[in-house]
Amino acid sequence: MDKFVIKGGVKLKGELSASGSKNAVLPIMVASLLSCGKSVIRNVPDVEDVRYMIKVLEYLKAKVDFNNHTLVIEVPEKLNFKAPYDLVRKMRASYYVMGALLGRCNKVDVSLPGGCAIGERPVDLHIKGFEHLGCKITLEHGYIKARTRKLKGSDMFLEGSKGPSVGATINVMMAASLAGGKTVIRGSAIEPEVGDVAHFLNAMGAKITGIDTSIIAIEGVEKLHPVDFSVIPDRIEGATLLTAAAITGGELYLKNCNPNHMSSVLEKFREIGHNVKTDNKTVYLKAVKNLNPVEINVLPYPFFPTDMQAQFTSLLSLVNGMSVITENIFEKRYMHVPELARMGADISIDGNKAIIRGVKKLLGAPTMASDLRASAALVLAALAAKGESEVKRIYHIDRGYESIEKKLRKIGAQIRRAEE
Ligand code: EPZ
Repeated sequence: MDKFVIKGGVKLKGELSASGSKNAVLPIMVASLLSCGKSVIRNVPDVEDVRYMIKVLEYLKAKVDFNNHTLVIEVPEKLNFKAPYDLVRKMRASYYVMGALLGRCNKVDVSLPGGCAIGERPVDLHIKGFEHLGCKITLEHGYIKARTRKLKGSDMFLEGSKGPSVGATINVMMAASLAGGKTVIRGSAIEPEVGDVAHFLNAMGAKITGIDTSIIAIEGVEKLHPVDFSVIPDRIEGATLLTAAAITGGELYLKNCNPNHMSSVLEKFREIGHNVKTDNKTVYLKAVKNLNPVEINVLPYPFFPTDMQAQFTSLLSLVNGMSVITENIFEKRYMHVPELARMGADISIDGNKAIIRGVKKLLGAPTMASDLRASAALVLAALAAKGESEVKRIYHIDRGYESIEKKLRKIGAQIRRAEE
């Protein structure tokens, strides 16, 4: 297992490019199964989750080549329709095979994904959506088994108690693309990654309208065809890199990003006091000294994303005054807090709220990563802390950040990878 050794206190300055979006490319890779033949997907981040999804696709009988941020996926006539526990348990996003395989084979057996470090993650909305499309779903021996003679378009309301679901919207959208008739998903998620999957499906010949709105309509088609497609930039990776500049008092030109996708986060940087400018594909952030505490309400897009909550907990731990974060999506997503406390942060958790009292400085310490965004939060804190820190179990960060230490070194960070 690898760890990061980080010497903090260096102001990070320079220019970086955002990689392609992990959470867009994972379902897009699976969506390529909806047609036979060779699809090409570009701007793919070289992260462990992508490498793992390649294994999932290969297990289902696709041939995959990954080089130079480009995936070539060759899909045969006949696909495996079963995704066993050992394949699914390591990466929840494997459940996207449900939508694609139902579209292609009218049947699928997928092991129920297990628990997760960021809290409860039910799949009831996915199941509800497939039932609306005419599937019979049973739960047997830990497997969700879905069967249908022919998927049938339907009008459904897909929101749950926590709001819309990214995964369920995408899963239903994939299956509905090959259903007979029209499907309407009301209460669909409007995260940019959902829109990117819809554009990918439309490029394959699907007929999806209402993209980026909470009512998506899908006119089923007989057949889809392979495509050549480029994935959107990763708004969460981009915002994390901007946070690295902000927390160290530095400045960053973030290139190849989509500032519109990051607007709620950029607005919070501004509210804190940082200088933020945007143009077409670039964000410039220059940190300032006099900072204001803020309140953050984590909600579905376009509001502040849960995937940036941990990183902002680190950032706000060094902002004088009391900041409050309310996490409304994954209410227990605060595993990074005890680790930050070990570096001197003053944070108390009250239900789904983090009450952060800014401290003057953090002190380097050995820490342990618990999930992807929590690891990013620890790396950020370590970059700002006085002295040396270690972040252990960085396989979590490798799942979703491409060469993060190389990118950070490029803007001056003293960070190295070592064996634990
Ligand atoms: C996606 O997860 C992302 N993962 C997550 O990113 C992200 O945190 C999340 O969306 C929210 O933006 C991928 O894209 C691979 P949801 P997903 O279904 O689709 C509840 C990261 O760090 N819900 O939108 O699983 C659920 O419990 C990861 O990159 C149900 O109640 O999230 C949550 O409270 C972590 N029933 C809320 O909806 C369901 O059937 C939103 O979850 C499904 C979800």
